[in-house]
Amino acid sequence: MSSSILITGASSGIGKALAFELAQKGYSLALASREADLLNQLRDEIIAAHNPPAVAIRSLDVTDYDDVFKAVNELADELGGLDIVFANAGIGLGERVGRGDFEKARRTIEVNLIGAIATVDAAAAYFLDKGKGHIVGTSSVAAFRGMPKSSAYSASKAGFAIYLEAVRAELYKKNIDVTVLYPGYIDTPLNNMLKNRPFLISVEKGAAIIARLIEKKVKSSTVPVYPWNIVGRLMKILPTGVISKM
Ligand SMILES: NC(=O)c1ccc[n+]([C@@H]2O[C@H](COP(=O)([O-])OP(=O)(O)OC[C@H]3O[C@@H](n4cnc5c(N)ncnc54)[C@H](OP(=O)(O)O)[C@@H]3O)[C@@H](O)[C@H]2O)c1
Repeated sequence: MSSSILITGASSGIGKALAFELAQKGYSLALASREADLLNQLRDEIIAAHNPPAVAIRSLDVTDYDDVFKAVNELADELGGLDIVFANAGIGLGERVGRGDFEKARRTIEVNLIGAIATVDAAAAYFLDKGKGHIVGTSSVAAFRGMPKSSAYSASKAGFAIYLEAVRAELYKKNIDVTVLYPGYIDTPLNNMLKNRPFLISVEKGAAIIARLIEKKVKSSTVPVYPWNIVGRLMKILPTGVISKM
């Protein structure tokens, strides 16, 4: 029996590339995002490229919190069970503080933090019932240090990482693994408008690394591991004046 994974934010970027990567490895896929047309097209492309055992798609806005719980159960039923849930959907709006961007900040917290928490809560309910499972969440290196013009984004990603750490402790000895990923810059529509993207990697490379980290069931890791494992530690101690220029 193949492993099965639900990926939120599967219509683009990291989620989409990971869907191709895992289809190639023989996973059954449940793919969710708001854009049903993109998911339909993606399903056809994945089947044509890799013909995985199953591909289920479902339109889902992770801020429709009640629907997140329905979606996890419906997709699990459709695939005959889920082994992994990847809470990956996210936005980066480049919000500035005190400049009329409060709505962007609110939306960022709603999608990246509350929507992600809803996804993990739904996954935990499903896995507790099943007696095993693996929860994976996308944080960011922006969680290591509050970044200018991304204050709500940094807060959402730091909040989600700490939430997942708490979930891991709460589910200790429940046969449910929890993996927190901290990507650096991976080339996707989320950041391709930025002038400066240090240590950028392609989305295919990012997806291949993420697939390996998921299969190893690591507790947490930067993506790529190096140099962000070192740069991440440095980010915590850099003077504010240096951070303010980033
Ligand atoms: N790329 C990077 O360098 C990087 C670095 C650190 C962290 N991350 C994180 O990685 C995750 C994926 O980002 P990406 O770079 O792949 O960006 P992306 O290409 O913009 O993809 C974002 C995905 O999230 C989905 N999404 C957005 N709002 C949603 C909502 N309300 N409900 C459901 N799905 C929603 C989008 O689909 P629809 O529009 O179809 O809903 C899309 O599939 C995000 O959490 C991001 O913060 C990325």
